[in-house]
Amino acid sequence: MSYLSISHITKQFGDTVVVDDFNLDVEKGEFVSFLGPSGCGKTTTLRMVAGFEIPTAGRITLDGADITEKAPNQRNVGMIFQSYALFPNMTVAQNIGFGLGVRKEPKEMISQRVEEMISLINLEKHANKYPYQLSGGQQQRVSLARALAIHPQVLLLDEPLSALDAKIRVSLRAEIRAIQKKLGITAIFVTHDQEEALSISDRIVVMNAGLMEQVGTPFEIYNFPQTQFVANFVGSLNTANAEVSDPVKGLVNVNGVQFITASDIKSRKKGDAIRVSVRPERFSFVSEEKKDNVLDCVIENITFLGSVVRIQVRIGEAKFNMDTFNNPFLDLPKIGSKEQVTCSKEAVLVLDE
Ligand SMILES: Nc1ncnc2c1ncn2[C@@H]1O[C@H](COP(=O)(O)OP(=O)(O)OP(=O)(O)O)[C@@H](O)[C@H]1O
Ligand SMILES: [Mg+2]
Repeated sequence: MSYLSISHITKQFGDTVVVDDFNLDVEKGEFVSFLGPSGCGKTTTLRMVAGFEIPTAGRITLDGADITEKAPNQRNVGMIFQSYALFPNMTVAQNIGFGLGVRKEPKEMISQRVEEMISLINLEKHANKYPYQLSGGQQQRVSLARALAIHPQVLLLDEPLSALDAKIRVSLRAEIRAIQKKLGITAIFVTHDQEEALSISDRIVVMNAGLMEQVGTPFEIYNFPQTQFVANFVGSLNTANAEVSDPVKGLVNVNGVQFITASDIKSRKKGDAIRVSVRPERFSFVSEEKKDNVLDCVIENITFLGSVVRIQVRIGEAKFNMDTFNNPFLDLPKIGSKEQVTCSKEAVLVLDE
């Protein structure tokens, strides 16, 4: 049996089902992210693990014990919220020791643990400051230390970085991941930021409207999306309307231009309307290498994005973005010129809607 097991969890508020038959097994020490758009049920699912909501149906077990209906303070779970939620009238050290005080731990043990936590998050100089004297990033590190101080079996993080600016977000997420690995603690991290989820997680659960769309490693989720929703939500994607021309050979017609796909379309019929998707980085110019699809195109636009140059091409009537790595010697075509681009048949995805 896995360490944390969430099985067939459903949550209904009145008539509305906001989490629908959610199933997930998390191993000890694993870092799992819930990724999905606003309102898809991420926080609600996390709150059921924390004990702030009781599921309408389903069970949650932690290290073999059924915790489905236990109160938050009766399960050993640490939670970090989007808003820092520190006690404003307590110092950093008092905030970190708070949970241990509630548990009536001996004073000596509390001060030792607080010291440990303060050094873990490198806030030695700030131990006696109040939250208002700290930056947002520092406050969120105190929240992390406070949640970890009680030796939780699971650490739950609900968009802990979303109120911070981009640079701090990236450095703090690396710090959270490093601390989580060092302590070997099991963690669930909620975010609607795909880059964050891809960079930090062992596995990602992609959620949409209360349902789990796909569970997998970042590599699997990005490279082998199983649904149109996952492909669209994670990474950038070109999508065009198409028609099946030969289901056995995998030929599809995109506005008069033939593509070959490695996706299984054998169950579809000739003439069926479908959509094809291609990630921008899967296209390249034929001059580099010829792949399964060789496509005539017109260069429509070129956008310089820093490390990446995004080239918009028109293939027949459909427009696609193509991403290529920047380098100072890049020989970019002229806008309006006719070129040929290429991509493998594996790059051409036909996904379930
Ligand atoms: N106590 C409640 N009563 C009624 N509806 C609720 C309650 N809590 C959440 N909901 C609804 O459940 C749905 C899921 O909410 P939830 O907070 O889990 O979404 P989320 O994925 O965390 O979104 P966000 O990214 O915006 O935080 C929403 O439609 C929300 O309005
Ligand atoms: Mg939320």
